[in-house]
Amino acid sequence: MESMEDPKAAANACAMVIFGSSGDLARRKLLPALFALEMEGRLDERSVLIGFSRSETTHEAFRERMRAAAGGTFDAAAWDGFARDLYAVPGEYDDPASYVRLKAELDRLDALNGIPGNRLFYLAVPPDAVPGIVRRLGAAGLTPRHSGRAARGWTRVIFEKPFGHDLASALSLNDEVSRILSEDQVYRIDHYLGKETVQNLLVFRFANGIFEPLWNYKYVDHVQITVAESIGIGTRGRFYEGAGALRDIVQNHLLQLLTLVAMEPPVARDADAIRDEKVKVFRAVRPLEPGDVTRFVVRGQYAGGTMDGEPVPGYRAEPHVAPGSATETFVALKLLIDNWRWSGVPFYLRTGKRLEGRSTEIVIRFSRIPHLLFRNLTEEQTRPNELVLRIQPDEGISLSFGTKVPGSELRIAPVTMNFTYACTFGARPMHAYERLLLDAIRGDASLFIREDGVRATWAIVQPILDAWRTGTAGPPAPYPAGSWGPAGADALIERDGRRWRNPA
Ligand code: BG6
Repeated sequence: MESMEDPKAAANACAMVIFGSSGDLARRKLLPALFALEMEGRLDERSVLIGFSRSETTHEAFRERMRAAAGGTFDAAAWDGFARDLYAVPGEYDDPASYVRLKAELDRLDALNGIPGNRLFYLAVPPDAVPGIVRRLGAAGLTPRHSGRAARGWTRVIFEKPFGHDLASALSLNDEVSRILSEDQVYRIDHYLGKETVQNLLVFRFANGIFEPLWNYKYVDHVQITVAESIGIGTRGRFYEGAGALRDIVQNHLLQLLTLVAMEPPVARDADAIRDEKVKVFRAVRPLEPGDVTRFVVRGQYAGGTMDGEPVPGYRAEPHVAPGSATETFVALKLLIDNWRWSGVPFYLRTGKRLEGRSTEIVIRFSRIPHLLFRNLTEEQTRPNELVLRIQPDEGISLSFGTKVPGSELRIAPVTMNFTYACTFGARPMHAYERLLLDAIRGDASLFIREDGVRATWAIVQPILDAWRTGTAGPPAPYPAGSWGPAGADALIERDGRRWRNPA
């Protein structure tokens, strides 16, 4: 999944346009990522960034606002150089004249800076604005397809998640987009795939000989994947009310982690070979029947509670949230993958806001030993081996095994071999958005979601959305902020004689 090019080499000169440049994502993630790339010398010096939004006014005002967002270790001289390449185009997403102005500005900057017509559009806008923007980009002649000798430069469009709202809307958005762009111009982002530790999953699996022979139903008892957040919904109530944890995290981040754990080795390292294997996993996920949803899926919503000794409000008391909201802030579910490798191995997934700790991790729980030689030992003393891939924080990998406690009696205690990125490598890992922006500029789509991947993931969650919509599954269960979610989530896994591993 590594970029094919020298990671240190500067990427292609291009004009990047951020739709929604006055929004949260642009300020918190995109601009800091681009500035970091600039400081590391990874952007071609001819490149420019254009902010397109209805609240943009002047280039200067845009630069000032972005300066405040640049964050991190601020290098004023580097900033001045970067800021000169920031431009604002005030515009309405549904106003054709705004796109004419945008095109004129792009042409002017191409000529001014010697940019060879390369354009990267980033749609950091609410989902309902996306189809209209794509149509208008097309109508304004801003999305030429790549083919043909006459084609000048490349055009790529990055789509933020969620891509669609459910299976039907994702299909129709895919259709709409494919009328205007070819699939190789479409970059559907899931920032989890840009995380260093997530990319390491494939390296860990396919660049090491000892784990892969064990990585199947014969030796793995089950897999747990947790994306736990301690933060609440903050100021995002308006967006979240229409989304919920299933759309916000399960359909994308959690299923992407699942597929990287479960996929077969790809035949090559290119984007399509990797994505072919990922999609095969999604297709093999056993579809949930309507009656399965109550048995295999638990949803919850955080109530008030205490975090770090401070009282925090419940979800329904957050700004822009309906007092009787039924939006879930927690989901736990059990999936089975019907293929040769994973037959009968449950994958337990969960995610939630306002949980006791922030932690994303994957637990591979190996099977129990077939014959217990040490009969007088408790089950606790002969715990099955566990491999934990810590995605964040405290990024690293640990493997637990039983060892004899020194002494005359036979006692066994679980111990852990632990690798942490911070201790071993020290250096700051590249942030997910830096990596993904750079890949998009270089035309490497390995870490982006292909059209069939989007379809397949929505197909997995659609039965859950249906059951929740029709009310057959009951409302979300409240759980206190600062806990590990509703009791139903424990029951889901304990029914199978297993337990969640709650990160320390
Ligand atoms: C985003 C979700 O995709 O991921 C947010 O919309 C969530 O709700 C965030 O907080 C988590 O990302 P990270 O990188 O902080 O784990």
